[in-house]
Amino acid sequence: MAAGFLLVWFSFFILLFSTISVAKIAPTFPSSIIRPEQLLLSTKHQLYKTKYFTQTLDHFNFNPQSYQTFQQRYLINDTYWGGAHKNAPIFVYTGNEGEIEWFAQNTGFMFETAPHFKALLVFIEHRFYGKSVPFGGEKVVAYSNTSTLGYLSSTQALADYATLIIDLKKNLTATESPVVVFGGSYGGMLAAWFRLKYPHITIGALASSSPILNFVNLTSPYSFNDIITRDFRSESENCYKVIKSSWQQIGDTAKQPGGLHMLRKSFRICKNYIDADSLKNWLYTAYAYTAMTDYPTPSSFLSPLPAYPVKQMCKAIDNPTTGNDTFAKLYGAANVYYNHSGTATCFNLADDSDPHDLSGWSWQACTEMIMPTDGNNKESIFPASEWHYEDRVAYCKFHFDIEPRPNWITTEFGGHDIHMVLKSFGSNIIFFNGLRDPWSGGGVLKNISKSIVAIVAKEGAHHVDLRFSSKEDPQWLKDVRKQEVKIIAKWISQYYYDLAHFSA
Ligand SMILES: *[C@@H]1O[C@H](CO)[C@@H](O)[C@H](O)[C@H]1NC(C)=O
Ligand SMILES: *[C@@H]1O[C@H](CO)[C@@H](O)[C@H](O)[C@H]1NC(C)=O
Ligand SMILES: *[C@@H]1O[C@H](CO)[C@@H](O)[C@H](O)[C@H]1NC(C)=O
Ligand SMILES: *[C@@H]1O[C@H](CO)[C@@H](O)[C@H](O)[C@H]1NC(C)=O
Ligand SMILES: *[C@@H]1O[C@H](CO)[C@@H](O)[C@H](O)[C@H]1NC(C)=O
Ligand SMILES: *[C@@H]1O[C@H](CO)[C@@H](O)[C@H](O)[C@H]1NC(C)=O
Ligand SMILES: *[C@@H]1O[C@H](CO)[C@@H](O)[C@H](O)[C@H]1NC(C)=O
Repeated sequence: MAAGFLLVWFSFFILLFSTISVAKIAPTFPSSIIRPEQLLLSTKHQLYKTKYFTQTLDHFNFNPQSYQTFQQRYLINDTYWGGAHKNAPIFVYTGNEGEIEWFAQNTGFMFETAPHFKALLVFIEHRFYGKSVPFGGEKVVAYSNTSTLGYLSSTQALADYATLIIDLKKNLTATESPVVVFGGSYGGMLAAWFRLKYPHITIGALASSSPILNFVNLTSPYSFNDIITRDFRSESENCYKVIKSSWQQIGDTAKQPGGLHMLRKSFRICKNYIDADSLKNWLYTAYAYTAMTDYPTPSSFLSPLPAYPVKQMCKAIDNPTTGNDTFAKLYGAANVYYNHSGTATCFNLADDSDPHDLSGWSWQACTEMIMPTDGNNKESIFPASEWHYEDRVAYCKFHFDIEPRPNWITTEFGGHDIHMVLKSFGSNIIFFNGLRDPWSGGGVLKNISKSIVAIVAKEGAHHVDLRFSSKEDPQWLKDVRKQEVKIIAKWISQYYYDLAHFSA
């Protein structure tokens, strides 16, 4: 296959490039998907106060430079808190690979359950993202080379969270308040790992759509695109076939005289750079993110979308309104993702804006987060291709001059034989997964023990449980949230019981 989609993305971040030549790196950020106008949402309601904490640069070293510090941002909401005197709980969101306000604004579950639990809400930003940037808060310096980027890792982030939580509890004289951690996607992985590594700091974790098993030699590199394929194919066989056959057609058209011009016209692409690969990447992004956020109600997480957007895309393909040729159908489908608001005048394939500051993920994907997602078997809705670890290595060498450590995460946090291992070791973790979410293939889908529970929603997408609720939510989603609340309540009451009976 000529041009593969080598996908190094995480929750919201795709990094694509052609596998032919590493030097020819396509737009690293297809953020035409993330619209700046969404940021306006944040200013409408005050949901929290912003604070900063002086954090240690390197928790795992005692050489002089490790003692440097940086300002770590966290958000706090004490409106519902029952207070330290009551040992009322503290809910902490373990921030992901982006600025923390975006995640806080999309984690309605914590705001909506806080009154019931009388919980204090805290959202901690991950180092190197948003405003929590080491080396004086200057991104250009912090991201300048491997010596500075070296401090960006999941283990450092977890140690930051531990340090900050302990200090915050001390300041609030709330040392006996139970802490529950929450997270979605990479943040969910961090929440689960935090519970395993820091059981003295948190009593339990809600890890939503956290693909802790999506690592090399643990989850098939085909599973991600298999699930996207299933999402579309189960909507309609025609929809699947039209998309599947289109890749060849796009490639062939691009090679004809005037072909690129025709493609640009068909897809109403702005008069800037276009080639067949960038168009394919642009379409891939639309399908993949739509599958990820195939929510039952309208959303505006990655991009403003209608309810059940995969269904809407297939509708655009099955009942086209602008023409009956393949490109007209695909154009209709792309409109669902890129133009739900109806305000796009043309589509900018070269858009590399990054309003949520997600770009640090490419470093993480080149060091420890080797999460294979872009294999495609014969049946895939995308062109067949194999996943090769060597492609990742080549990219990382080129981009950062660094060699990944593909097995570090499973060495540090485990993953192999997870059911057997955690059955006799861990406790109090909820793994939520929605099976429409392509990341669910790397999630924990089976119950491990009485207190390490897998909640699996056939109809669910990427951390749908954490979203703000709405009147239109289907019953299965209400039930999921109810079950999560019940389990968390059990952890907390067990904690109070133990505190009364066993603490010295
Ligand atoms: C906490 O969140 C609620 C919304 O759930 C909001 O009404 C309130 O103003 C917030 N409190 C603070 C201190 O920001
Ligand atoms: C890396 O970047 C930092 C900050 O810009 C600089 O001080 C340092 O000399 C650089 N190191 C190397 C090895 O280039
Ligand atoms: C705790 O209080 C100290 C002293 O005021 C302050 O420097 C520190 O940032 C506070 N910790 C947190 C987590 O806010
Ligand atoms: C995955 O497993 C295969 C077969 O055991 C092995 O050859 C390969 O090195 C492993 N990959 C990594 C990145 O460890
Ligand atoms: C597509 O073809 C069908 C059947 O041939 C026809 O009914 C429909 O009007 C056509 N749609 C467009 C947009 O041309
Ligand atoms: C976006 O949608 C609106 C409303 O349907 C339409 O008028 C406009 O042409 C679309 N933009 C593009 C680039 O197709
Ligand atoms: C795990 O156990 C809970 C009950 O504790 C149950 O509701 C849930 O369906 C089980 N999950 C799976 C994937 O079987």
